[in-house]
Amino acid sequence: MHSAIYPSLVGRKVIVSGGGSGIGEAVVEAFARQGAAVAFVDIQEDPSAELIRRLADVDIPPHFIRCDITDCADYGHKIGKLIAHLGGCDVLINNAANDDRHSFEEVTPAYWDERIAVNLKHQFFAAKAVVPAMRAAGGGSIVNLGSISWHLGLKDLVVYQTAKAAIEGLTRSLARELGRDNIRVNTIIPGNVQTPRQMKWYSPEAEAEIVAAQCLDGRIQPADIAAMALFLAADDSRFCTAHNYWVDAGWR
Ligand SMILES: NC(=O)c1ccc[n+]([C@@H]2O[C@H](COP(=O)([O-])OP(=O)(O)OC[C@H]3O[C@@H](n4cnc5c(N)ncnc54)[C@H](O)[C@@H]3O)[C@@H](O)[C@H]2O)c1
Repeated sequence: MHSAIYPSLVGRKVIVSGGGSGIGEAVVEAFARQGAAVAFVDIQEDPSAELIRRLADVDIPPHFIRCDITDCADYGHKIGKLIAHLGGCDVLINNAANDDRHSFEEVTPAYWDERIAVNLKHQFFAAKAVVPAMRAAGGGSIVNLGSISWHLGLKDLVVYQTAKAAIEGLTRSLARELGRDNIRVNTIIPGNVQTPRQMKWYSPEAEAEIVAAQCLDGRIQPADIAAMALFLAADDSRFCTAHNYWVDAGWR
């Protein structure tokens, strides 16, 4: 496959949450290979360190700080450190999430709060933390990772899907709040992406069912989501804001 090269991404300062594995890992790699300066947080140190090692050959090696994004105060502090390291911030990819299955019966008030913290709350506060740097730079791009799950109404994911539905509202609200600062805000809605973690949930039969429900054959890869993130961060998408960009192979 021949992929696009975006000259506007060279040297662009990019912060990614949950960049240590899965889609986030592909996003970190894709931006780094475009010549962007990438900094990411994750709760998992080993895969993050391994990713840094794997990308040792890029012009600007990515920078990693361990952070639990559910601790809002600490996350805000760590974003400050990442901005200081990069010398600014042009792009924020709000990617970290956790799609642990939960039955309707087992959801307690504490579990609800914890799911909302890991799947929704950090996206708003990360945006708030980077906006001053984006304003200083004359603009920026914020990309929130949503999910096809609530559009389909999948089972055993009530709180995750509630959070993912809210992200689309968050995107539209932030796009309105920040548009006059030339800060664009969009949602990427992945379909079912073949990440190592997803393979835990799906048997080969279940994967075949998903492919049968897609319009296109084949399994979506993390790099396919990263390709959309690159476009939404590049100048090529300069009039794209407040909307959803689906990468789902037409899954209905
Ligand atoms: N994979 C899919 O099929 C799919 C489908 C729809 C939406 N999405 C969305 O795409 C995004 C990435 O999904 P993924 O499949 O790569 O997920 P993943 O679980 O494979 O990776 C998520 C990353 O976030 C990190 N993370 C989790 N909790 C954290 C915390 N508290 N603090 C810091 N880091 C934390 C994890 O360590 C991991 O590296 C998520 O927002 C997810 O909801 C994925």
